[in-house]
Amino acid sequence: MRILMIGDVVGSPGRKALLEYLPRLKRSHHPDLIVVNGENAADGRGITRSIAREFFGAGVDCITLGNHTWDKREIFDFIDDEERMVRPANYPEGTPGQGYTRLKFHGGELVVINLMGRSFLSNLDCPFREADAILKKLKGNPPVLVDFHAETTSEKLALAWYLDGRVSAVVGTHTHVQTADERILPKGTAYLTDVGMVGPYDSVLGMDKELVIKRFLTQLPVRFEVSTGRTQFNAVLIDLDPVTGKATGIGRLRFDDDKPWLE
Ligand SMILES: [Fe+2]
Ligand SMILES: [Fe+2]
Repeated sequence: MRILMIGDVVGSPGRKALLEYLPRLKRSHHPDLIVVNGENAADGRGITRSIAREFFGAGVDCITLGNHTWDKREIFDFIDDEERMVRPANYPEGTPGQGYTRLKFHGGELVVINLMGRSFLSNLDCPFREADAILKKLKGNPPVLVDFHAETTSEKLALAWYLDGRVSAVVGTHTHVQTADERILPKGTAYLTDVGMVGPYDSVLGMDKELVIKRFLTQLPVRFEVSTGRTQFNAVLIDLDPVTGKATGIGRLRFDDDKPWLE
């Protein structure tokens, strides 16, 4: 069983790259399920109903979110209707949407949990205890993928160790920069600190680099805009044993104009 997890899709350049490469990745890597982080899909901030539909129409099975979940106000109109979309589970009780979902595919299933870190992010409920609570509720010991949307490498790695052997994979999102530390932990949980993003290559985390530089130089409020031009694509492939749900392989995917993808 193979999962393709694609990092934060940023703005229209990211969406364009996603739609361009998805069919090719399906042909070459044959994923059973495709999970995409969509928190930056609309102008770099949030996601709209039409973008979510576009992703599902392209073959995406599940959209995960993060700290930008609520940036487009229309999210409140559709998040409760969309079973294939998850926002961080450790928002307070009563928050719209769901924190995990159970996906079915030909002959199998996968639970996707979205959690958000608390270091340099909002003061949500404890992601470690929230993971415990969700795992306790799951019946039948299904394979579980955790998208841990967090800023710090330490919080991500700590959660992965905490969940080792209890979930199939913990992969990080949010920093938009792919890390090179993919591994399988001793009890069978695949791990990558950050998947990276799909979006502008000549940018700062997807945003127009001149605007980001200006904010650093002036320390004044500068509104960031999604950059244009060349794109990069970052994702990870995770193979699971269909019986035990334990990870058997993890491999990063990354391509851009300097390192093009060779099919
Ligand atoms: Fe992001
Ligand atoms: Fe984020």
